[in-house]
Amino acid sequence: MADRYLSFTGTAPGRFLTRRLGLPQPAQLRRDALTGGLLHLTAGKTDLDLASVLDRTGLAPDTDGHPAAVVLDATGVRDVDTLAEVHAALHPVVRSVATSGRVVVLGAPLDPADHHHQAAAQQALEGFTRSLGKEIGRGRTVNLVRLTDAPAAESTLRFLLSPASAYVSGQVIEVGPAAGSPTAVPDDAELPLAGRTALVTGAARGIGAAVAGTLAGRGARVVVLDVPQAGQEARRLAERLGGTALALDITATDAGERIAAAVPGGLDVLVHNAGITRDRRLANMPAERWSSVLDVNLASVLRTTDALLAAGAVNRGGRIVATASIAGLAGNAGQTNYGASKAGIAGLVRSLAPRALAGHGVTVNAVAPGFIETKMTAAVPLFIREAGRRMNSLGQGGLPLDVAETTAWLAHPASGAVNGQVVRVCGQSLLGA
Ligand SMILES: NC(=O)c1ccc[n+]([C@@H]2O[C@H](COP(=O)([O-])OP(=O)(O)OC[C@H]3O[C@@H](n4cnc5c(N)ncnc54)[C@H](O)[C@@H]3O)[C@@H](O)[C@H]2O)c1
Repeated sequence: MADRYLSFTGTAPGRFLTRRLGLPQPAQLRRDALTGGLLHLTAGKTDLDLASVLDRTGLAPDTDGHPAAVVLDATGVRDVDTLAEVHAALHPVVRSVATSGRVVVLGAPLDPADHHHQAAAQQALEGFTRSLGKEIGRGRTVNLVRLTDAPAAESTLRFLLSPASAYVSGQVIEVGPAAGSPTAVPDDAELPLAGRTALVTGAARGIGAAVAGTLAGRGARVVVLDVPQAGQEARRLAERLGGTALALDITATDAGERIAAAVPGGLDVLVHNAGITRDRRLANMPAERWSSVLDVNLASVLRTTDALLAAGAVNRGGRIVATASIAGLAGNAGQTNYGASKAGIAGLVRSLAPRALAGHGVTVNAVAPGFIETKMTAAVPLFIREAGRRMNSLGQGGLPLDVAETTAWLAHPASGAVNGQVVRVCGQSLLGA
């Protein structure tokens, strides 16, 4: 369903009228290209060598004072005094960051062994990032990356400093050390997934269809899985993408085995996207509404992941991306079943990630969409839908493409150091942290 308010405020009379009435002024997000250069700043004394990584983002150094992207290396912030350098670095430039521009703050990993002054100063970067994200406006995003070395974080920095992350803001992303992260394919390869097989569940429509399309666009052979009732849509999409369709209800007890049989060469990317809602307040919720949501959204994800890992059907260096939701992280009235299932996804990711990586370089992450313009959200009553759209720092809903691009970053062969993360694609929704 089109966001008519966003289109209206994009016209001159619309802008005039809504400004006079004091109504929100969401910016048209740029999903094609960032316009402007890159400004690299530091706060505190840093050991990070970012030059070559930033060079490869394709953004030239800023020369006209209107950067499209600002990277602030704050890994050297150790106490409240050096924290003041964060203010000193960004205060003079923040106003001039281009519309739909990017601010990326780099922080050090949090280590319980750190001195408590350092711990306080590094944690302070999170409050700083999230607050700046809420006030910066004009479609600009602000994110924090905690990292130990620049090469391991290259794919993440390229994503956050590109149009692909248009709807990702207010996030804290941890990137581990490079060890154990297969980076056989260069991060700037045009078809990083060439020769790889990706399976997307619930891919006949909505977010899943966009994910399948984006992964195919990066070179993957895609398997479009959906329920038999959606078989025709799935087949049509698979044909268009040069992939195959798999008609399968993911709740079938043997779903994992049937997927393994359908991909004899194994899977390089597994995207658990299928999901349903059956909303009711707990007091009115029959057991069937509870169990159907828990079965599709969580139990089947656990079951198929276990079966595929046990069968050795997830290849070395594989990427598992599951789908949570901000409703699961923040809680939502009428969605105890859905919220439980999606919070369960975050638990699965955090628990399995270290073991899968240690085993054979498989990473396990989740995307947590906020309000995304799909059939699922088009079915939401008008006033709740309008509130869902506007109640985030970017003042609008995201597109399936925004979730797809985030998934493609996590699925990238060079993203092996990104593991166990739950990344919200929500325009920094006011729901939850
Ligand atoms: N749209 C949003 O704003 C939003 C927000 C947060 C999270 N999500 C999550 O993103 C995912 C995709 O959402 P969407 O909006 O595209 O939903 P959608 O309803 O448009 O599409 C879901 C797809 O999953 C398929 N599916 C459902 N049950 C299945 C099963 N048992 N086996 C196989 N396929 C099955 C459906 O047939 C459908 O094609 C879901 O997990 C959803 O919970 C969506």
